[in-house]
Amino acid sequence: MNLNIVVLPGDGVGPEVTEQAVRVLREIASTHGHNFHFEEQSAGGEAIKQTGSALPRATLDACLAADAVLLGAIGSPEFDHLPSAQKPEAGLLLLRRTLGGFANLRPVSFHKALASASPLREEVAEGADILFVRELLGGLYFGEPRGITSQNGSWVALNTMRYSASEIERVARVAFEAAMKRRRKVTSVDKANVLETSQLWRQTVSSVAQEYPQVELDHLYVDAAAMHIITNPRRFDVILTENLFGDILSDEAAVIAGSLGMLSSATVGGVVDLYEPVHGSAPDIAGKGIANPLGAIASAAMLLRHTAHLDNQAAEIEAAIQEVLDAGYRTPDIARGTDGQLVSTAEMGRLVTDAVAEIADMRHAYHAV
Ligand code: NAD
Ligand code: IPM
Ligand code: MN
Repeated sequence: MNLNIVVLPGDGVGPEVTEQAVRVLREIASTHGHNFHFEEQSAGGEAIKQTGSALPRATLDACLAADAVLLGAIGSPEFDHLPSAQKPEAGLLLLRRTLGGFANLRPVSFHKALASASPLREEVAEGADILFVRELLGGLYFGEPRGITSQNGSWVALNTMRYSASEIERVARVAFEAAMKRRRKVTSVDKANVLETSQLWRQTVSSVAQEYPQVELDHLYVDAAAMHIITNPRRFDVILTENLFGDILSDEAAVIAGSLGMLSSATVGGVVDLYEPVHGSAPDIAGKGIANPLGAIASAAMLLRHTAHLDNQAAEIEAAIQEVLDAGYRTPDIARGTDGQLVSTAEMGRLVTDAVAEIADMRHAYHAV
């Protein structure tokens, strides 16, 4: 298998975690005889410093020509004072819009080995396994008009929440298709008691549901959903929601997995799929070599599954992550008390890489007998 992967390390901990994800992918390529080609390009604050643009033309062209894009994180406090359009994050939003992926898949599950890292009691979080399907190209992030103006000597800021039925339909189908391969339940999250966009959302999702009679659909308001996710996470299978609600709820759900550093994502449905951990550039820990690379590594596994259809090899990476956690290795964000052995970002990456190599050897040995 030949794969052309553009890597955008980005800002803060982005380069630290993507380096480990690439290392694991290289191991998969060498053990399975694939030809993965990695091309690094700049994006975000780091690209602003180098070129004046958060998404240089060369980066965008390389991404559009790739089989998949693997991104670290974008954003830095250095640029917080700039207007929205000039911030590093604007480069990320332009990249998402240009690549066209409208469905952002964010799986969140409980890891028994990390039970003590979660603020949730084990009996609450145990067995939780949720797939967020977050709409990624609509809502307040992209709605026009937007801006800050002065009216009668006072500043006024405006954002527009806008959804068309077809934007809702296409992401709803992704959620129902995903549910068909899981536990056949979709919970659609909105604010239909207040917002017109949510009323159209609920009505459209309900009509798409009729094409999937085997899937159970329920609806929750976003405020109640935020509470149910951490009081009874097992009640959920697939959570389908709009852009901003999905952004907020998926970070909240990270407490189920033990840390934001654990979460991965895949953005599908466009011309080129985009893979990125859910976390940001984590300026508070950047440069220290302590960031958790498992979210980025799990995003690489999603890349193998969704873009390359290498389901078994994606599962090998996931099994390797599990093995390393079961063996007690922890970056600081998932270490609690005295349990486990503290490791750096690079050590965690090496441990997962070694576990991938071992799992592949075992498979070969098994097939040889
Ligand atoms: P953040 O996700 O960067 O960090 C939130 C908290 O989680 C911090 O305490 C951080 O140390 C911790 N954390 C995050 N990733 C971790 C990891 N891999 N290992 C261990 N701990 C980790 O969110 P923030 O601080 O609100 O935002 C920082 C910057 O990142 C902002 O500029 C924001 O816009 C940007 N951001 C980018 C993305 C992205 O590129 N997809 C996502 C979220 C935030
Ligand atoms: C995420 C991030 C981004 C988002 C920001 C950095 C634009 O928080 O990927 O979750 O809000 O989508
Ligand atoms: Mn976010």
